[in-house]
Amino acid sequence: MPATKQQTTRQKTPYKPSPSAKHSKPAGGSKQDHVIIFDTTLRDGEQSPGFTLHTEEKIKMARQLERLNVDVIEAGFAIASQGDFDAIQAVSQTIRKPVICSLARALPKDIERAGDSLKYAKKKRIHTFIATSSIHVEKKLKLPREKVIELAVDAVKQALTYTNDVEFSCEDAGRTDWDYICAIVEAAIEAGATTVNIPDTVGYTTPQQYGECIAYVKKNVPNIEQAVISVHCHDDLGMAVANSLAGVVNGARQVECTINGIGERAGNCSLEEIVMALKTRKDFFGIESKVVTEEIFNTSRLLVSLTGMPVQANKAIVGANAFAHEAGIHQDGVLKERSTYEIMTSESVGWHGENIILGKHSGRHAFRDTLKRLGCRDMNATDFDAAFGAFMKLCDKKKKVYEDDIMAIIESTVADTLPRMYELQYINVTSGTETVPTATVRIGKGDEVLQDAGCGDGPVDAAYKTIERMLGVETTLLDYHLEAITGGKDALGRVTVRLDVDGRQAAGQGSDTDVIVASVRAFLNALNKIVTNPTHDNAKAGREP
Ligand code: KIV
Ligand code: ZN
Repeated sequence: MPATKQQTTRQKTPYKPSPSAKHSKPAGGSKQDHVIIFDTTLRDGEQSPGFTLHTEEKIKMARQLERLNVDVIEAGFAIASQGDFDAIQAVSQTIRKPVICSLARALPKDIERAGDSLKYAKKKRIHTFIATSSIHVEKKLKLPREKVIELAVDAVKQALTYTNDVEFSCEDAGRTDWDYICAIVEAAIEAGATTVNIPDTVGYTTPQQYGECIAYVKKNVPNIEQAVISVHCHDDLGMAVANSLAGVVNGARQVECTINGIGERAGNCSLEEIVMALKTRKDFFGIESKVVTEEIFNTSRLLVSLTGMPVQANKAIVGANAFAHEAGIHQDGVLKERSTYEIMTSESVGWHGENIILGKHSGRHAFRDTLKRLGCRDMNATDFDAAFGAFMKLCDKKKKVYEDDIMAIIESTVADTLPRMYELQYINVTSGTETVPTATVRIGKGDEVLQDAGCGDGPVDAAYKTIERMLGVETTLLDYHLEAITGGKDALGRVTVRLDVDGRQAAGQGSDTDVIVASVRAFLNALNKIVTNPTHDNAKAGREP
């Protein structure tokens, strides 16, 4: 039964925390001077269909999150798959500044796996959760409520044997009786939890109701000052950011969020929106995060390039139109005084509006400067040479090369540095009004060279069918998206595809001035991700095993 505003009295729960429960240091409580940004792009975000990332891609993303200066990176759900475990371990070995977090159900085997995955982390957190709403407790867990509290306490205690930083979440808190939330939260803190998270797992609450719930927890849990209250909201009704902000207003000091708001179903609270709301309206909220906001745009772009999932043009903060002024009256106002129609500057989120043009004579130095401005600072010499080579080739085909073209080159360089089994060597396609579309494709597979020809309903279909037959794979094309990167007839075309092979999904990207070549590159990029990541089953990744 959903909680209601009328609940004001605290009912006593039969559960009594064990007096032997180990206490850890208070984590700040309401004295916390900034809002902790807990990024879950690599865990809850990766639960979106087709968002599967390779370990190398997770490391790239984690590095950028470190530059963004998030406080906590939730890197995966260790027990869900070997791929998740490996990725958490690899991120733990690479990232030093943010806390690395591993998710676990309130079960001994999960906590053990989470603890092991964090072995190399400099700063580590175990995040354990159990469902608390009546519907989950009765229909999913089928356990008495006292037993649920007992499992939560045991999980927190076990997690404390690996780290002092333990977070406890009541899954589906948004539909849980508030007194029961208070009881389990009190017990978890008594057991040693340093962060207590109140998730709106199904995106059911409204800002006023969620804010009141957080205020209720703050007021009615006697030991609440020993922990940080965290909010974790899903966007099913489009209220995740508003709900999270309502939580902050009522005392929450950690927000769980994802880049571009990606996540299960309609997604999670968007990091860029919450951070910029706190910054732009500091007059109202009175507290901010420590995020380096100038890194927001690069982080958003990197995620798009890794997942192949574009953001809508009118998306707040990071959409292509977020800082565009189309109406004459607005343009006039902005030219006279920017603040007439702008509440924040594009520079403050790292978006540099102007699209600098490069050409054949720009040289390595100008190219390197552009890369730096676009946020690619840690490119090694091999990647740089590959990107510069691709840039020079593009200059031969295209008179003016824009920043967005360079981004596309970097995206393909990123894809090219991933482990791959298949490499496109040659493609020739014939199509037209009177011709049966036919493709001849040559693909390198290690030392082998495979070649075949086939026809299809169109040139892309002909190429894809030929590749499938040649490689002996059957794919389902879940998504195909073609866009022109910049204007002009010679524009680069970027193709994004989402493929499914036996329940394993991946997104792939390819760009070229020839859209058929771009389509084939995207197809092989996705296929390579699937075949070189056999331990990563999308059906399992990030989900309960
Ligand atoms: O939405 C949710 O409840 C979660 C928990 C695991 C925190 O993602
Ligand atoms: Zn969630």
